[in-house]
Amino acid sequence: MPSLFFHDLPMPADESLTHVLNGLRKPLKTISPKYFYDKRGSELFMEITRQPEYYLTRTEVKLLQNYASDISRAVGENCLLIEYGSGSSKKVRILLDSLKPRAYAPLDISRDFLAAAAATLAAEFPWLEVHATCLDYTREFELPFSMDARRIVFFPGSSIGNFNRLDASAFLGRVRKLVGSDGGLLIGVDLKKDKDILNAAYNDANGVTEQFNLNLLSHINNRFSADFNINAFSHAAQYEPDNGCVAMYLVSQADQEVTVSGTCIPFSTGERIHTENSHKYGKEEFLDMAGDAGFSEHYCWTDESNWFGIFFLYSGTGH
Ligand code: AVI
Repeated sequence: MPSLFFHDLPMPADESLTHVLNGLRKPLKTISPKYFYDKRGSELFMEITRQPEYYLTRTEVKLLQNYASDISRAVGENCLLIEYGSGSSKKVRILLDSLKPRAYAPLDISRDFLAAAAATLAAEFPWLEVHATCLDYTREFELPFSMDARRIVFFPGSSIGNFNRLDASAFLGRVRKLVGSDGGLLIGVDLKKDKDILNAAYNDANGVTEQFNLNLLSHINNRFSADFNINAFSHAAQYEPDNGCVAMYLVSQADQEVTVSGTCIPFSTGERIHTENSHKYGKEEFLDMAGDAGFSEHYCWTDESNWFGIFFLYSGTGH
C-alpha cells in the first residue's frame, strides 16, 4: 500500500502586484523570474531542457545515473530525503532504489501539481513513505511533521544559480539549519565555463528560451490585467563575466506605454527589463560558500568537461 501524506502550510500574504509594480519602477526595470512558470512557461522550460545547447539537465541526469550508487553510499540509507521545488520529482527517481530513504518529502509551491506528482510517485514506489508539503522553500520554514531520521535536502537543476550570490549564501545557511549537524545537502550546480557555451545555452537556435522569456509578459498580462505587446519586446541573454552569471532581459523595440493593473509604465526604445540571472560557480568558490554556511565536508561528482557538479555537502561533526 503506498503511504502518502499531504501537508499544507499557510501561504504568506500575496503582495505580488506591489512587487511587480515596484520592479517596473526601478531605474533598471525588473520582473522576478518566478513569473516564468505559469502552465505554458513550465512546458517551455521542459522544452528548453531538451534543446541541444542546454547541456545542464542532460549532464546532471547523466551524473545522477552514473554515480547513483556512489552518491547513495555517501548520503547513507534511511534518511528523510527532502526535495526543494520538487516539480514532477523526475530526477529523484534515479536515486530512490539505491538510496533507500526512510521517507521522501517533496516541497513545492504549486499545490495541484505537487499533489498529482506525489500521488504518481507514491504509487510507483509503494515501499516509500511520501510526505508532500505545499510551501515556498525560498523563505525560512520548519517541516510540518516530525520524523526521527537524518535530513538530507535534494536541490538539483542548478536552481541555486537563480539566486544572487548573497541570497545563495543565506539560502545555504537556512538549509544547514534545517538539516542540523548530522544532515546534508545534495545539490546540482552549473560550473563556470567558456562564455560561448553559456551564451548558446541561453540563446538556443530553436528560439525556445526566447519564447520562455517572452511568455513571462503573457503571464503578467493574464495575472495582473496588463497589456504588454509581446511583439514589441525581444529576448536578450548574455554571460556577464564580472557578475559570473548569464543575465536575461526583455528589450523594448519601441517607445511605448504599458498599463499594469491601471498603472502606466513608460518604455523607451532599447530599454531593458531584467528577468533572470543564472549564476555559474567555480568549484572552490561554491565550496567556500558552503563552508561559510556550516557545511565543512563534501563529495563532488563532475562530468569529464567539468561543466556541471553534483555536490554532497555535510558537516564533519555529525556524519
Ligand atoms: C531553472 N533554472 C536553473 C534555469 C537556468 O538555467 O537558470 C532557468 C532557465 N532560464 C533560461 N533557461 C533556463
